[in-house]
Amino acid sequence: MELTSVLNQSLTYISSFALKCAADLDISGRIQAYGRPMPLNELARSIPISPEKDMMLGRLMALLVQKEVFAQDEAGYVLTPVSKLLLTEHSNMGAFARYITQPPFTKVMCVMGEWFKEGAAGSTVYMMANDGKPSWDLFKENPQLGKLFNEAMTSRCKQQMRDFAKSYPHIFDGLNSLVDVGGNTGTAVKIIAEAFPFLRCTVLDLPHVVAEANLEDDSFNVVAGNMLEQIPPAEAFLIKNVLHDWRDEDCVGILKRCKEAIEPRKDGSKVIIVDIIQDFKNNNPKATETGHLFDILMMCCHGSKERTKQEWHDIILGAGYSGYKIHPAQLGVDCVMELYP
Ligand SMILES: C[S@@+](CC[C@H](N)C(=O)[O-])C[C@H]1O[C@@H](n2cnc3c(N)ncnc32)[C@H](O)[C@@H]1O
Repeated sequence: MELTSVLNQSLTYISSFALKCAADLDISGRIQAYGRPMPLNELARSIPISPEKDMMLGRLMALLVQKEVFAQDEAGYVLTPVSKLLLTEHSNMGAFARYITQPPFTKVMCVMGEWFKEGAAGSTVYMMANDGKPSWDLFKENPQLGKLFNEAMTSRCKQQMRDFAKSYPHIFDGLNSLVDVGGNTGTAVKIIAEAFPFLRCTVLDLPHVVAEANLEDDSFNVVAGNMLEQIPPAEAFLIKNVLHDWRDEDCVGILKRCKEAIEPRKDGSKVIIVDIIQDFKNNNPKATETGHLFDILMMCCHGSKERTKQEWHDIILGAGYSGYKIHPAQLGVDCVMELYP
């Protein structure tokens, strides 16, 4: 039992690469296009791969079926709710698997032990593995990787935001303007602008990131800038999956800058944080495990973390907010917090 557990945990990174391989080969799209359970040889011919690799493809599919990415009946392979998320035209979540398995990130995980023993104070594991460079520089220097990152963020964001208006119908009541701080290429603001047409929405992100936004889309404005320096004024700010990338002191700085930039309204002006709360009670062990995995990813890449309720409390009050609330409904593994100036 224990031996199996050690072997399983040592080998489990192979699942990440199997998922990436399924995305690279667009296996979900092929099964979807086939329209009925797809036998192995039909799947193999559709890719196409040479016939001597059919059995190997079968073995890849066996692992993915075991992981419930696909299912199998006597007639062939079928999609599951997981593999439906890999369909490029719907959600394209394969982009996340492709991005996170890139060598600059896998290299990071390889040197985690070395970093614990020898990493300089204030350095990150990422810097140790990538010639001392901080992670955000990589996307600027390597536009292909930057594009993959943006694609991964866009895909996850679309999934998170799918039911946003239904889950939080009153979150923007009485408000006229919103800035999405670190809003990437504008996926969230576009969805928000459609669902809440009375809101003037703006996305703020780094210049090379917003350069990839659809500038012809007039449903939102775009500001190229640095949230550590300046944040454009608005009645509300969204900071989604951003603060977990930053150390406590930077989070306090970003939140203080939002508080200064907030245009006060008698009732309503607020900052909305969407991020993981590590000790948020739910009945989903997968979500808890995902929280720990993201926490190690943040530690290694940015020297930051996923936070507990108490840690969020300290940051929010440390930035001078008068109060806050945590919504009971989650957005996937993330929680929604409302901060009041
Ligand atoms: C993990 S992504 C989250 C993106 C988006 N909010 C979402 O939920 O999909 C973090 C974002 O912060 C942006 N970012 C990093 N440093 C920044 C800075 N100094 N000023 C503005 N944006 C920054 C990145 O470019 C990236 O788009």
